[in-house]
Amino acid sequence: MLDWDTLEQVCNDCNKCGLCQTRHHVVFGVGPKDADVMFIGEGPGEQEDLRGEPFVGPAGQLLDDMLSIIDLSRHNCYIGNIVKCRPPRNRDPLETEQDACIGYLRNQVALIQPKIIVCLGRIAAQKLIDPEFRITRQHGRWTEKNGIWMGATYHPSALLRDVSKRPEAFDDLISLREKIRETGAKV
Ligand code: URA
Repeated sequence: MLDWDTLEQVCNDCNKCGLCQTRHHVVFGVGPKDADVMFIGEGPGEQEDLRGEPFVGPAGQLLDDMLSIIDLSRHNCYIGNIVKCRPPRNRDPLETEQDACIGYLRNQVALIQPKIIVCLGRIAAQKLIDPEFRITRQHGRWTEKNGIWMGATYHPSALLRDVSKRPEAFDDLISLREKIRETGAKV
């Protein structure tokens, strides 16, 4: 396991997959290094690639609004992605790209030691919870894995495209608030 500074340096220099050729910035992740709650998306979009920070585009604005509903914010959660470099035209990250990158996220999780991880969307849920994860059926359910409570909700981009999913996402947030209470996670 690498320490924070070394890990960030290694990520910034990474050329383990083709995404390094088109990126402007590696999007390492943001938030307190001792956060009890982590949110994981799939990969940076255009704004994130340009700024080097996760969820700063339209989906990020919605994520901020979602967090504020249950009194969370970027200041008390860690936010990252399955892949740290933008897939061209925002396509889904390939399995090979996810596999090349996932070790960095696992290293971050090992350093942070969160109590709760919330996957944002199918790609993160399938990588971190279950390869067969069906977001429409399994969002809002919790499973404990290696001492960490893992759950998933809709990706904010999906909620921008389809507002009819928002009530279910709201229920997931309420369930997260309950899990935070139950685990005593600090936020
Ligand atoms: N979508 C993601 O999955 N991650 C980001 O950082 C931005 C948009």
